[in-house]
Amino acid sequence: MADSSAAKRTKGAQAEERKVDWRRWKQERKAEKKKWKEMKLLKKLEKQRMRELAEKQAEKQKEEQKEDKGRHYTLSVALPGSILNNAQSLELRTYLAGQIARACAIFCVDEIIVFDEDGEDVKSVEGDFEGIGRRGKACVQLARILQYLECPQYLRKSFFPKHEDLQFAGLLNPLDSPHHMRVDEDSEYREGVVLDRPTKPGRGSFVNCGMRKEVQIDRQLNPGLRVTVRLEEPQKPEAKVRKGTVVSSHHPRTVSGLYWGYSVRLASCLSAVFSECPFKEGYDLSIGTSERGSSVDQATLPSFRHALVVFGGLEGLEAGLDVDPNLDVTDPSVLFDFYLNTCPSQGSRTIRTEEALLISLSALRPHINEAVKTPSNSCRKENH
Ligand SMILES: C[S@@+](CC[C@H](N)C(=O)[O-])C[C@H]1O[C@@H](n2cnc3c(N)ncnc32)[C@H](O)[C@@H]1O
Repeated sequence: MADSSAAKRTKGAQAEERKVDWRRWKQERKAEKKKWKEMKLLKKLEKQRMRELAEKQAEKQKEEQKEDKGRHYTLSVALPGSILNNAQSLELRTYLAGQIARACAIFCVDEIIVFDEDGEDVKSVEGDFEGIGRRGKACVQLARILQYLECPQYLRKSFFPKHEDLQFAGLLNPLDSPHHMRVDEDSEYREGVVLDRPTKPGRGSFVNCGMRKEVQIDRQLNPGLRVTVRLEEPQKPEAKVRKGTVVSSHHPRTVSGLYWGYSVRLASCLSAVFSECPFKEGYDLSIGTSERGSSVDQATLPSFRHALVVFGGLEGLEAGLDVDPNLDVTDPSVLFDFYLNTCPSQGSRTIRTEEALLISLSALRPHINEAVKTPSNSCRKENH
């Protein structure tokens, strides 16, 4: 009797134990399931977070790509070649030309126009310097030295044969502008000369870009041509040539905002500075400089695309007017949108043209920066 009731109790206890075990097991499974669900949710959330981050990054990259780094305006400077006639020796004439070139490079001038205020009608840099003190050829000589200095050193042999005008030009201070690359310098763009080297049909010409390796461009061009090349990232560093694409010489400025040197133009008279403008829309902002102009401090320049700043020689801008067959005015101020004194209260009776160039470009810089900041200008695109 006692045995059977004890057995019953044991059975009951065992059943109870099994129940407890079962509940515990269920609870454990439930907890495990909950944990697993939480982990799954966490993973899902993490995945979503990563996806959102990637999307955000891609968007940011797109925005950055869209962000316009280019400079869409140009600055031109015009001055008479006759200023060289004030220098007494070829060395001094050369040095003066070097000062003009450096001032223009420092202030990112895109075009220099050398005009004739003596009525000599010069149109090309072909010609010889015919002796110090002789009038004439000053425009040609100035233009030649300016072009020589603008050309990267490694290309000068290809484009500037020995010439008396350039006898001392090699001693001048270099422009050291962004397009004057050193041999191992890394750069997206480089100036080069097309080499006279046979290439297989369908393959582009070889170009000397002043690097250890030659660059094979995307097209066949005539040997001797100066080109602006956009370099591709090297696929194989051990390859014998680099690959590149020919772009316009304005490309580094308009796309990447780089200063890429200046072009040089000769004008046979003051009016030709305007009438032979290389931009099809012409200059939309012209500034004449004179001690008789109004103070630069009060000037507010409008938004522009192509600005021109004009300087006179020893006799001022009036001299250019007198000999110009196309101009029937005596007051130079009527030719310009602004006629500015860039050094009010000057302490010397006269400021020389080369000094006026530095002073004026420096004084105009904040006004120009302000003018090009306006939204209408920054989003305007142009052909050059
Ligand atoms: C030697 S200055 C000419 C001086 C001449 N006596 C005159 O009356 O114009 C040569 C050039 O430097 C520039 N220049 C000289 N002083 C200037 C000033 N205070 N503001 C702006 N440009 C000036 C002008 O372009 C001028 O034609």
